[in-house]
Amino acid sequence: MTADGIGKQTVRDINVQGERVLLRADLNVPLDDGAVADDTRIRESLPTIQYLTQGGASVLVCSHLGRPRGERNADLSLAPVGERLAELLGQPVAFAEDCIGPPAVEVAQGLGAGDVALLENLRFHAGEEANDRIFAAVLGTLATVYVNDAFGAAHRAHASTVGVANLLPSVAGLLLEKEVRYLGSLVADPPRPFSAIVGGAKVSTKIAAIDHLLPKLDRLLVGGGMANTFLKAKGVDVGASLVEDDLLDMARDILARADAAGVTVSLPEDAVVATRLSPDAEADTVPIDAFPPDRMILDVGPATLTSFEAALADTAAVVWNGPLGVFEIEQFAGGSFGLARALAELDATTVVGGGETAAVVARSGLAERFTHVSTGGGASLEMLEGRELPGVAALLDA
Ligand code: 3PG
Repeated sequence: MTADGIGKQTVRDINVQGERVLLRADLNVPLDDGAVADDTRIRESLPTIQYLTQGGASVLVCSHLGRPRGERNADLSLAPVGERLAELLGQPVAFAEDCIGPPAVEVAQGLGAGDVALLENLRFHAGEEANDRIFAAVLGTLATVYVNDAFGAAHRAHASTVGVANLLPSVAGLLLEKEVRYLGSLVADPPRPFSAIVGGAKVSTKIAAIDHLLPKLDRLLVGGGMANTFLKAKGVDVGASLVEDDLLDMARDILARADAAGVTVSLPEDAVVATRLSPDAEADTVPIDAFPPDRMILDVGPATLTSFEAALADTAAVVWNGPLGVFEIEQFAGGSFGLARALAELDATTVVGGGETAAVVARSGLAERFTHVSTGGGASLEMLEGRELPGVAALLDA
């Protein structure tokens, strides 16, 4: 597969004129006191909705919000999301108080070409997460075509991501296509040199991704808490830092395989350290080879950033997954934000995994300067592990 295609049909491959489309979006956004606190996922859903309405379809949007575990929960209603969606679209968005049954049927039947409606939280019904056959069938009766644009939920084999896709003509939305293109197709056949930056607290959560990426990489840069395990595996004393001792052999094996494959590995050369993880802890910057025994690594230091920038200077494409430090606390955030600034300057394809890494980029205010910032946390990691997501597999082949 080339970086251009995702191997699945998309909304561009079908004629939606006069069709009623069930559009699975990932509108699982943070709420604050009943209001949408971050509308990124809603904004990212707009191109597909508008593509469909402009093509003459009526669009019935559905999503989950939070984890209500099959029970109605007023705090997890999608109603405020519908209001925000209407503002962003600049058109009314009808809201169905239930995603199936008479409220959903009534709203669906009231839609004309170009109209948009939103169904209430799918996870108010246990059948959603159970991928229940009957729940999926009832959902499917609401529409004539199914479009999956919910990349963030595509790693879940639920009724609205897989069950209904098996019942209706089913294609990818524009966001899902973009996500799979950058996190799957690009990684499968990357322009060279190709680099990966992996961070985050634990190496255990990233082993599968490193395993998948390693044979395709020219450079591997490791930061965050997970770098401590690699440093210790190389015999560096990291004091009181978090280390996954049971993974030292695994870290040595990754370093040996990288070496054998000619992949250059960059590890932290200095670190911001403290005796405890707290906003008021006294922080120092120390070189890695002179580590104070009572301190723990909470961020990479400026020398590491400089060496990472040098390693990335001529890269053609880079994937970044996982912060370089405890970015939620200002004095341990310099590495992650510094890396975001450095990547924003690169003349390269820059791809950022979802979740925490996307949060760093969003807070840096530089998201527009990246080629792609994923909207999916777990889903983006699974793609980087080379796994086919069930929500993508269920769609019609190209
Ligand atoms: C996410 O926020 O990562 C997606 O919406 C998936 O949510 P889930 O982990 O509750 O399935």
